[in-house]
Amino acid sequence: MTELPRKKLFIKTYGCQMNVHDSERMADVLRPFGYAISDTPDDADLVVLNTCHIREKATEKVYSELGRVKALKIAKAEAGGEMIIAVAGCVAQAEGEEIMKRQTAVDLVIGPQSYHRLPELIARAHRARGERLAADFEAEEKFDALPADRQPAGVTAFLTIQEGCDRFCTFCVVPYTRGAEFSRPAAAIEAEARSLVARGVREVTLLGQNVNAYRDPDGVGLADLARRLARIPGLARIRYTTSHPADLDDDLVRAHAEVEALMPYLHLPVQSGSDRILKAMNRAHTVETYLKAVERIRAARPDLALSSDFIVGFPGETDADFEATLGLIQDVGFASAFSFKYSRRPGTPAASMGGQIDEAVKTERLARLQALVEAQQRAFNAAQVGRSLQILVERPGRHTGQVIGRSPYLQAVHCEGATNLIGSIVPVTIVGAAHNSLTGRLALELA
Ligand code: SAH
Ligand code: SF4
Ligand code: F3S
Repeated sequence: MTELPRKKLFIKTYGCQMNVHDSERMADVLRPFGYAISDTPDDADLVVLNTCHIREKATEKVYSELGRVKALKIAKAEAGGEMIIAVAGCVAQAEGEEIMKRQTAVDLVIGPQSYHRLPELIARAHRARGERLAADFEAEEKFDALPADRQPAGVTAFLTIQEGCDRFCTFCVVPYTRGAEFSRPAAAIEAEARSLVARGVREVTLLGQNVNAYRDPDGVGLADLARRLARIPGLARIRYTTSHPADLDDDLVRAHAEVEALMPYLHLPVQSGSDRILKAMNRAHTVETYLKAVERIRAARPDLALSSDFIVGFPGETDADFEATLGLIQDVGFASAFSFKYSRRPGTPAASMGGQIDEAVKTERLARLQALVEAQQRAFNAAQVGRSLQILVERPGRHTGQVIGRSPYLQAVHCEGATNLIGSIVPVTIVGAAHNSLTGRLALELA
């Protein structure tokens, strides 16, 4: 068989883990066509920007990056070469036409449900700048059409089980960019998990925009899916993200008590600690039902730690509403959190609400909130010192003789150890804690 000419593929990924995963899948789809990943866009044959639309800043970043890539494309053309520029992801889905108007160097715009068509669309882009827009919502087709034999990059892997969101929080673009909720059949997910494990994967993170609303066409929910995956020999750890508090059902809570492979760490976004604001956000949970959910899951798994997302400066948010959010953070105690200033997204209900908050107020509230969650994160990390944690060793450290692994709580743990430990789960005594990572010492018999 003759080798196809090697072509350089540069993918830049913005946004959530779903995008990180989709980027890997795009590389998988293109590999048989001779595309190999390159870590720089200079001289690439194909540049893919896998974009995020969640906040205005995320979207604007894409346009400035496109300006830079355009310069590279021109330089390459002057040297007699060709560079194809493709925009994928949620900005592609939301603003397809506008992207092509604003940046004429773009050859191809492709929405998240059309990635299986990439090779065909790129071939067309080579021939003519004809069909440049592919954005539809045929989720099932996408999953069927993407290659099943993935090449996992390491001992952990993302696995998409659900896409889209039917919740329509009033601030959020995801229901528009990712479409309606769609769950993959459990059997297909299990098959993919088995093949990942056969290639050395020890931990999977099940992905979905509203992952705990997962229900496959046969009625299998997330709890049963986790039970099924936990039976795969060699699969040691299961995580899932992102959950909606209103979809945390009793069966999933029970699964956290029963299934050892389900890691005791849960990302459960609350957004605000004020019922008035939660209502305006259309969040479908109140402060009380959120706290109940936290109580239920902690009762099932007492060592469980939580993380969350927060939005400050949602339209109409008063000082008292904001203080209530700080109060909720104090009450729950988070191991980490993401927090954002509310960003007005065109077409979403909140964008046209009265009572939009001043940027300066948002900045001040965000700083206060972040100081509080950072203190909680530091305290949580510091509390691990002296404990023995099971670490999944993932990769070599910066220096020879060092490895980096993850604790059950997703903290990076640096320790002395040989690279042949990669893929093993080993007990480590935590001896130091920094803001974003821990240091540990391998239990003696392993060192
Ligand atoms: N499906 C997930 C994540 C959605 S996006 C969920 O339901 O939690 C990730 C986070 O971005 C959200 O949790 C929210 O905190 C934030 N976000 C979404 N839209 C936003 C907006 N318009 N402005 C600021 N933050 C936003
Ligand atoms: Fe967006 Fe709300 Fe759906 Fe999360 S649950 S993706 S915040 S609409
Ligand atoms: Fe962004 Fe789309 Fe994810 S808007 S957060 S990339 S689902």
